[in-house]
Amino acid sequence: MKILITGANGMLAKAVRERLKNYELICTDVEELDITNKEEVQKYVKELKPDYIVNCAAYTAVDKAEEDYDLAEKINADGPKNLAIAAKENGATLVHVSTDYVFDGNLSTDKVYVENDKTEPVTVYGVTKLHGEEAVEQNTDKYYIFRTAWLYGDGNNFVRTMLKLGKEREEVNVVADQHGSPTYSVDLANIIGNAIEKNIPYGVYHSTNERYTTWYDFTKKIYELANLNCKVNPVTSEEFVRPAKRPKNSMLSKEKLKSVGIEIPLWENALDRYLKNDLK
Ligand SMILES: NC(=O)c1ccc[n+]([C@@H]2O[C@H](COP(=O)([O-])OP(=O)(O)OC[C@H]3O[C@@H](n4cnc5c(N)ncnc54)[C@H](OP(=O)(O)O)[C@@H]3O)[C@@H](O)[C@H]2O)c1
Repeated sequence: MKILITGANGMLAKAVRERLKNYELICTDVEELDITNKEEVQKYVKELKPDYIVNCAAYTAVDKAEEDYDLAEKINADGPKNLAIAAKENGATLVHVSTDYVFDGNLSTDKVYVENDKTEPVTVYGVTKLHGEEAVEQNTDKYYIFRTAWLYGDGNNFVRTMLKLGKEREEVNVVADQHGSPTYSVDLANIIGNAIEKNIPYGVYHSTNERYTTWYDFTKKIYELANLNCKVNPVTSEEFVRPAKRPKNSMLSKEKLKSVGIEIPLWENALDRYLKNDLK
């Protein structure tokens, strides 16, 4: 089986490459294959004839995107469209990764989002990622869209930032009114690998680690597992304003993924493995 990975130097891509290393992998980042270049994508996919294209390329700077719509749209919407058209023309299945930011995040926190809930992004990043989903759905039938959230792994991420702050400071303020599920890149890569190997039905799947928390409780767990004595103070979103509005509710139901036989580890277990294995 031949698999083309785009955006192959990114955080998720590193875990995907490791998970799929026993297959014939062609790993490209923007230098080798710029997914926004339609002709280049068509030529590349036609020559390579991959069975799967796993698109890990994205514009992921959520705050910067507020001032950078055109580039974010190019990478997050035009890119997946080019890949979807090329995948269809050459018989490949497209695996695409999306985000909880396609929702407005205003759902009551006693509820969780399911795949066909109404999408209503409120940030530039979210709008462009939704356009990417739509472009995939409109241009090919053989696709998976895995919506994830709060991703961490081999790259800059919240866990690394909080560990650094926890070593430097005696206390930190962390938002306690935003709810979601942290996601270890290794576990998301495993979901992707299992989906391919089990040939699960095409479509959109919510794909985070299992169970829900807040950034505040997540931080407390990071410090507990890392034996750091830093005090964590809960603050509200209003006290911590960012250029792009953060969703209060990022909780994604994983029932659909579980119903097709995919197992999903708990976020606490994932964090423990990350701290022991990746950050030792
Ligand atoms: N990180 C999160 O918390 C989070 C949450 C929800 C969903 N997601 C989604 O998860 C996926 C993976 O995210 P990630 O954090 O692994 O992203 P990442 O680390 O930012 O990696 C993205 C990669 O894509 C590359 N790239 C950018 N433009 C490209 C282009 N035109 N052609 C080819 N490659 C290009 C980047 O290269 P450069 O670095 O050179 O630009 C980078 O290597 C994305 O779809 C993202 O939207 C992430």
